[in-house]
Amino acid sequence: MKSHSGRGSQMSRQKENNMKIVAGNWKMFKTIEEARTYFAELASATPPQADKVRVIVFPNYIALGALAETGSVPAWVLLGAQDVAAEVEGAFTGEVSPAMIRSTGATHVLIGHSERRHIIGESTVLLHRKLVNSLEASLIPVLCVGETLEERNAGKIEEVVFGQLDTALSDVRLSDGAQLIVAYEPVWAIGTGVNATNEQIEQAHHLIREHLKQLLGTAIGGSVAILYGGSVKPANFASIAGLPSVDGGLIGGASLKPSAFAELIEIAEQV
Ligand code: PGA
Repeated sequence: MKSHSGRGSQMSRQKENNMKIVAGNWKMFKTIEEARTYFAELASATPPQADKVRVIVFPNYIALGALAETGSVPAWVLLGAQDVAAEVEGAFTGEVSPAMIRSTGATHVLIGHSERRHIIGESTVLLHRKLVNSLEASLIPVLCVGETLEERNAGKIEEVVFGQLDTALSDVRLSDGAQLIVAYEPVWAIGTGVNATNEQIEQAHHLIREHLKQLLGTAIGGSVAILYGGSVKPANFASIAGLPSVDGGLIGGASLKPSAFAELIEIAEQV
């Protein structure tokens, strides 16, 4: 695996300083016009301190391209794509390559969101290829992992989450923990209004942290940011983001309104 420095080393320094990441996943919402209006409104929020909060927004591909073109996104917001092709280039109708995403100025990409795993039916092997190709294109993958309620009730959290990490990260060597972000998103908490309890989050994040250390080595596995996602909103974010094992949030529904998203950013700055 190629080593990517620059922004990466800057981010790992920030993580050591207890940096929080606030990531907004817009899913299949917002036309180009709506996306521009959103950022015009978000731009009036007070920018967070760069050493305390990193903000990333994941619009759909269409809005992502348009936003890059008009420069309508505040400088303190990084952009990412919600998905990426598993191939580099070629006859893959409908797919968008890592380099195409990178060409918009986007820096991050969601990989293995539960809606892609469970609704679209993406396989773990496919997700592994997406992750490797994204790293090669200097995109930072936000690898989403998490168990269904059925799996949790059957006591299979470790089996499921470790399995997702093992396949996605198989043979992946990083030179810096900032090249990767992991998001723990229990499927039963996504879009349901029922967030995981602090205890459940801490337990899962500790398991993930130890497993990342085994897979990537102690130093790198210890410095990969781990976000929590699943029904995060302004009312519960201070308590979740304040947990020692939580490096930030991946937020769906509550990221769609600029006022709520600005509130989440402010909370992350204060914890
Ligand atoms: P939610 O979605 O915040 O609407 O639960 C989280 C996600 O899907 O990343």
